[in-house]
Amino acid sequence: MNAPTSAIESVLVENRVFPPSEAIQKAARVSGMAGYEALCAEAEKDYEGYWARLARENVVWSKPFTQVLDESNAPFYRWFADGELNASANCLDKHMGTATEHKTAIIFEADDGQVTKVSYRELLERVAQFANGLKAQGVKKGDRVLIYMPMTIEGVVAMQACARIGATHSVVFGGFSAKAVQERIVDVGASAVITANFQMRGGKELPLKAIVDDALQMGGCEGVKHVFVYERTASAYSKVAGRDMSFAELLAGQSTECLPVAVEAEHPLFILYTSGSTGKPKGVQHSTGGYMLWAKQTVEWTFDMQPSDVFWCTADIGWITGHTYVAYGPLAAGATQIVFEGVPTFPHAGRFWEMIERHGCTVFYTAPTAIRSLIKASETDEKVHPKNWNLSSLRILGSVGEPINPEAWMWYYRNVGAERCPIVDTFWQTENGGHMITPLPGATPLVPGSCTLPLPGIMAAIVDETGNDMPNGAGGMLVVKRPWPSMIRNIWGDPERFKKSYFPEELGGKTYLAGDGAVRSEDRGYFRITGRIDDVLNVSGHRMGTMEIESALVSKTDLVAEAAVVGRPDDLTGEAICAFVVLKRPLPSDPEEAKALANELRNWVAKEIGPIAKPKDIRFGENLPKTRSGKIMRRLLRSIAKGEAITQDTSTLENPAILEQLGKTH
Ligand code: WT7
Repeated sequence: MNAPTSAIESVLVENRVFPPSEAIQKAARVSGMAGYEALCAEAEKDYEGYWARLARENVVWSKPFTQVLDESNAPFYRWFADGELNASANCLDKHMGTATEHKTAIIFEADDGQVTKVSYRELLERVAQFANGLKAQGVKKGDRVLIYMPMTIEGVVAMQACARIGATHSVVFGGFSAKAVQERIVDVGASAVITANFQMRGGKELPLKAIVDDALQMGGCEGVKHVFVYERTASAYSKVAGRDMSFAELLAGQSTECLPVAVEAEHPLFILYTSGSTGKPKGVQHSTGGYMLWAKQTVEWTFDMQPSDVFWCTADIGWITGHTYVAYGPLAAGATQIVFEGVPTFPHAGRFWEMIERHGCTVFYTAPTAIRSLIKASETDEKVHPKNWNLSSLRILGSVGEPINPEAWMWYYRNVGAERCPIVDTFWQTENGGHMITPLPGATPLVPGSCTLPLPGIMAAIVDETGNDMPNGAGGMLVVKRPWPSMIRNIWGDPERFKKSYFPEELGGKTYLAGDGAVRSEDRGYFRITGRIDDVLNVSGHRMGTMEIESALVSKTDLVAEAAVVGRPDDLTGEAICAFVVLKRPLPSDPEEAKALANELRNWVAKEIGPIAKPKDIRFGENLPKTRSGKIMRRLLRSIAKGEAITQDTSTLENPAILEQLGKTH
């Protein structure tokens, strides 16, 4: 990359620009802004024709589609609806007989450093065998299968095997609690669960199967007929006769050949739960055809994936990033990818850099929160600084999940990318299926902290509350004005909530509302995401609903009378969870008692949702600040959480003394 056009390193007004180097630009799949603009113009001129072309080029259809976009039942859009395909065939079978067949598909590095490699041929055989095992147990097209697995080859195989037989998977991140697993099993109507006895993270053996057992005992899970258990470790686990079966038992005697089941383009490939602004997580339903098109195309465009690349996306398969950029996209693109079981800080905080060197990683995709924690670690311990490893294999870096602050961007650019690797700051959401607004490494001049421009065909815009376009420089709500193939199709079982959440009447009922605020720069029209405009927090790139945490707190009925949760800025995690709690007993008089109570509540939330939802701050008060009509003054709480001086009008408060009470953190 060229030197910054401005030498002034101000982080307040971001005016540094990093255009792609000649060399990167020349060799890239989308070359230069001219290449980008040509694609945008094609989409602009003939929207459906553009998407139809990409769908033909990127997807192998067992029955070609003749319809492109069906808007007759908007906002329940349908794409390529009369076409048929199989997602697993698009990731595996299509490579057989090509140069990719014996190429390494996955380089797996276990928590303890042990490395296993599988070729595309071997992966296909494992997926086919697993699919046969599922079929033999009666799992079939249309069934929902809940997957609660560690980051392993087996996790990817389980997802691909479901896709192969047309079963819809719902992956739950291994850090969620039994309660969260149970709620998802009930909501999705799962008939089988795929899990592991334990998972290995940071040298520790953590239970998964025992959590599934607890979940299944909570009621409403009678539909679950099978639990298939990957024996990740040699440790014993409890088995329910007639219901539980190890992978070895499931696979015994099964053939490694299995014909993929062709499904309609709109067939739900998966349902993935994410937090919204009510207490109940939303089951985001994705299609097969449109989703696979964008999974492959974005891997090829955003990461400029070439046959020689070694790609590494550090996201867990429990999140959308792990679906699109681990389980599906890289395989559809025929890439070699690294799958890592462990955590970035074990056995030391240089693990990522060490692994990049060990495996010759060329394209590295991670989250700002990981970068910030590794910056911090390398500041206190020189030995884990990236300079201690040879990172010269890298050619492209990526960021995802939350805004990346310019300081972290610059550190990543200099210390990991040696000022020669473009950083693609990819904005997208669980609901989007794949990248939406992102630089292209061989085209877009980069500005730290900005996700730059929408991908060709993504009609992103910034509007006010009534849908009017905002001029550059003025902030507003991020929307997408036209449907796109990989978009969410529904909220599982709740079409009304789908319409209300994403296609509000105020915006005409057909415009997709992202739920983020954004602003475009005056000079380039580049997008910068300013954060959520709803009651959703982003903690370390994980989405958490404030109401979800509030419901968890008030469900501790012996202790909690009322709770309100807000976010506050945090240097490391982006946002931190701050809970205001009214107890069913007098305010704790000494700090030790308050601390003990706060910890009890944190553990309760971890049990209800998962450790990622634990509030960082807990503040006790005799009351919460409310308006006369009884509405909690959340803006006031946000100020208190930040430690800001209160400038809002507090004259309507019943009990102004609580402001002081609520100021104390425990
Ligand atoms: C929310 C979506 C699919 C990505 C993983 C998170 C925030 C995501 C960026 C970015 C600024 C970002 C938004 C969005 N977000 N990427 N590059 N810059 N903000 O998916 O859990 O569905 O969360 O993450 O607030 O709405 P998710």
